[in-house]
Amino acid sequence: MSIKFNQERNTFHLQAKDISYVMEIVSTGHLLHLYWGKKINTELDLRSLLPAGLRKGHLKSEKANNFSLDNIPQEYPAYGHTDFRQPAYQIKLEDGSTVSNLKYISHQIKKGKDKLEGLPATYVEDDNEADSLLVVLSDEKAKLKVELSYTVFKDYNVITRSARLINESKKNINIKRAFSAGVDFADFNFDLITSSGHWSRENHLNRRRLFPGIQSVESTRGASSAQHNPFLVLARPDVTEDQGEVYGFSLVYSGNFWAGVQVNTFEQTRALIGINPFDFNWLLKPGEGFQTPEVVMVYSDQGLNKMSQIYHKIYRERLVRGRYRDQNRPILVNNWEATYFDFDEEKLLEIAKEGKKLGLELFVLDDGWFGNRNDDTSSLGDWFVDRSKLPNGLDSLVKKINGLGLRFGLWFEPEMVSPESKLYKKHPDWCIHVKGRSRSQARSQLILDLSRREVRERILKMLTDILENTNISYVKWDMNRNMTEIGSAGLSAERQRELPHRYILGLYEMLETLRIKFPEILFESCASGGGRFDPGMLYYMPQTWTSDNTDAVERLKIQYGTSLIYPLSSICAHVSAVPNHQVSRITPLKTRADVACFANFAYELDLTKLSDQEKEEIKMQVRYYKEIRQLIQQGNFYRLLSPFEGNNDTAWMVVSKNREEAIAAFYKVLAEPNPSYRRLKLKGLKEDGIYRLKNSKKLYGGDELMYAGLNLPHGFNGVQEDGTIFKGDFQSILWHFELVNR
Ligand code: DGJ
Repeated sequence: MSIKFNQERNTFHLQAKDISYVMEIVSTGHLLHLYWGKKINTELDLRSLLPAGLRKGHLKSEKANNFSLDNIPQEYPAYGHTDFRQPAYQIKLEDGSTVSNLKYISHQIKKGKDKLEGLPATYVEDDNEADSLLVVLSDEKAKLKVELSYTVFKDYNVITRSARLINESKKNINIKRAFSAGVDFADFNFDLITSSGHWSRENHLNRRRLFPGIQSVESTRGASSAQHNPFLVLARPDVTEDQGEVYGFSLVYSGNFWAGVQVNTFEQTRALIGINPFDFNWLLKPGEGFQTPEVVMVYSDQGLNKMSQIYHKIYRERLVRGRYRDQNRPILVNNWEATYFDFDEEKLLEIAKEGKKLGLELFVLDDGWFGNRNDDTSSLGDWFVDRSKLPNGLDSLVKKINGLGLRFGLWFEPEMVSPESKLYKKHPDWCIHVKGRSRSQARSQLILDLSRREVRERILKMLTDILENTNISYVKWDMNRNMTEIGSAGLSAERQRELPHRYILGLYEMLETLRIKFPEILFESCASGGGRFDPGMLYYMPQTWTSDNTDAVERLKIQYGTSLIYPLSSICAHVSAVPNHQVSRITPLKTRADVACFANFAYELDLTKLSDQEKEEIKMQVRYYKEIRQLIQQGNFYRLLSPFEGNNDTAWMVVSKNREEAIAAFYKVLAEPNPSYRRLKLKGLKEDGIYRLKNSKKLYGGDELMYAGLNLPHGFNGVQEDGTIFKGDFQSILWHFELVNR
């Protein structure tokens, strides 16, 4: 890892473990992009990579130079001087002009990595883990300073970037857009991979060829959203899971974002990512600064799986914080799908008792324990225990659950208020709204205006009172609606368009306060499932409820898609009842567990209604997950067969860091009569390793498993050669290997 500035050539060469990122300051003062990809010798002069000369029709930008910004790869392109593509930022001055131009002023190279003020970001624990570069650019006329930050890490093939805009003038500057980063590629020979979805259908992957013009995904909902996740991936068309060049951009942010590319008339590609400029404006007063979120950029020359593993590692080790970063996550039982709002202390204790018998470790009381909440139409904001359901109070219930030998977790939805609540009656202007307009409700609720200090303080006080006085080990932090009628009674007219970002900054501030105050609590983020599953939230809460859809078949796509960027340790998956509550499908208990165990494994069903046989099976599942928990939560994940290709077969596996243990899974959605003979090739094992299939005497070579593969089970007569049953629809099989020739 290194960052070198070559004074003669005016070039920066950033090197992470196996990658290079090279920039040049040209004589006009513009900071241009030369290269990002596989490591290149830092001594080489890469300046000739710039496109030479002008094409017919180009406007000349600087009188002394024979270039137009329109075809020049730039690091943080401005608007208004011969570049007709989408800019990385845009400002509006008091004279009404929106044109600007950034020129190099200075730079600083230093060890380590600074925190981003008020925003989540990757971090170092020791300054020797990373080097950082700060390049200072300035628009002379506007007196706008832009600081571009770059960090390269010793142990991660990652470059992080962000930008800070500072008003050094004596007048107001309005920021109309400020992306976190832009990268200009020389060609457009790429596929664009993004995710799309909806509530209960999160993170379905899409892949399509780039074409001239703009292609993008975004959120305008006030949350990163279930509709699109805040990342984009550019992959060469020949890219598979295992080979080919891939560029990933993942935004560490939980609010409105835009991630997209523009292919220009010369088939050059500009990628941009950051806060969504739509409906955004930020008033920057003299002396003030605006910090953009961080983008984590990954280059892999070994396909998508390698890219994912790089993201998994850095997010697991240097984004997530706190004691749960390195600790096993508890196996919990959540009462939501078991009881919904209809419970009392007795019912909860029955479920908890059963959970303890089955080996579970933590009981979570979900929605409905507070105010007067018997359905979703009331009480959000009134965080006081409902004595009609819990007559002895929360503390008494917690003590009883603890007495059973289980830890206790509690659900909150702190960002919301029900119009039917004491809080709303007292403070009707504390929600996001536009004066004089109707307030659209979703799930009968409104969003509290977290841009306001008094609102944040009040909510924090209510939460803190409960968390300080009750033995709570886990908090599920839910958020169940998106923003409409975006306005704040606490902001002046000129700052109204700042609200969605100020909201997220307020949320982050609250989460940081709670994290510091309650370091022992495991926080799980949730937004009707994966409506805000993003790296920003992972900085404060190490795991996320991935989807409200708990159906094993649906989960194959959701978990597979989520794994493109996020580690298994951040993904939560629950075994639930059948018929499934979202899609009414009946899948075997084994399959439900085999899918959920490739994540933070848990249960969400009425354990008291299980048959003895089911209880025995669950006992075994829990015992087994405890055995593989470390491997699943810390190992390297490999995708083997995609549910997005063909739909019927999915396979994935996890290999321990030392490659001495591996667990692979194959899932078949529908049974096939007389299927073709197929093999599943495993990955990531030791070539010369001899692996034993656990609980059997069967030995396999690592090379054999990777290059020849395993025969896949067939489902016709339902019985495999080894006697295992693989019968009917929705089947799964697990193979667990351990190395014997250590
Ligand atoms: C949405 C969450 O995703 C569910 O798991 C559950 O907590 C409900 N909210 C409760 O209202």
